Amino acid sequence: MRKRILTGITTTGTPHIGNYIGAIKPALELAQETDESFFFLADYHSIIKNQNPDDISMSVRNVALAWLASGLDTNKSYFYRQSDVPEIVELTWILNCLTAKGLMNRAHAYKAAVAENKNDPDKGINMGLFSYPVLMAADILMFDSTHVPVGADQIQHLEMTRDIAMRFNHIYKDLLTIPEPIIHNQDRVVLGQDGRKMSKSYGNVIPLLESEQNLKKAILKITTNSLEPGEPKDYKSCTVFDLFTHFGTSEQISELKQAYINGISWGDAKETLFNIINTKLSPIREKHDELIQNKDFLNDVLSDGANKVRSLAKNKISEIKDTIGIKLIS
Ligand code: TRP
Repeated sequence: MRKRILTGITTTGTPHIGNYIGAIKPALELAQETDESFFFLADYHSIIKNQNPDDISMSVRNVALAWLASGLDTNKSYFYRQSDVPEIVELTWILNCLTAKGLMNRAHAYKAAVAENKNDPDKGINMGLFSYPVLMAADILMFDSTHVPVGADQIQHLEMTRDIAMRFNHIYKDLLTIPEPIIHNQDRVVLGQDGRKMSKSYGNVIPLLESEQNLKKAILKITTNSLEPGEPKDYKSCTVFDLFTHFGTSEQISELKQAYINGISWGDAKETLFNIINTKLSPIREKHDELIQNKDFLNDVLSDGANKVRSLAKNKISEIKDTIGIKLIS
């Protein structure tokens, strides 16, 4: 069977190295070995939680640049913006009409939002958040994706997509492809400066696309203990070491282990981490700086991507509409 992978990237914030290691890099590696790959900017998902227009447009730009600078090849992969494919929104409505409200009541993200509320369970919850998984199902089902690479937090959404697709196929006919998840980096979170998971909401991120100087500053801010140079250090509980393991070869990792045992200073440990990350990120930073020289580049790439996928989407949506009875009157 031909493999078609598809994954969406919610456009919030500016990508950091946690996004790079956890999502961008594994997805691009997967694309190398797959027949067809679809990557898109989930900008309609991003307006659920952020209603600041400047944030949204900046984020779309930065996320697109991060993927392209990291090596996404638009000749080999489809790369587009969700909002450029209005057929996805049409499909969302159609799927809404066969999705049980009870199924959405069970979504983790929605339940977490309700749990945060005290008196009024509905406070701050919009219909976008409630039906988030339906839009995601439409993203996936629109293009007959066979495999969907996602983080562990998205498994439930994938199950819901499968449920919704099976229901459609049961009610109408076998028209939608049932996708399989591909779960990456299940047990390897990328730690932030304070030792918690790297996340914009914790304010502990190490940037992906900023200057060398800012990268260095961010690394110097990583929390360590107060052991002096010369005192043996425990690499197992160390954020600096843990981050190093994402970038180093196994030889480099054993070398650093030994240096910890021998009492490397925190300054030197951070310098070692900076050097390896900087070496890996330099080409990405250079590519990014080159891409931003051409003002039209991003819009051109995205409109090109939209043109390619829209012809697929138009065919599929007309088949779907025909199937549900929304068709020429006979
Ligand atoms: N919900 C996904 C996330 O937050 C992003 C996303 C939107 C997605 N649509 C998708 C992922 C379709 C995979 C397939 O990570």
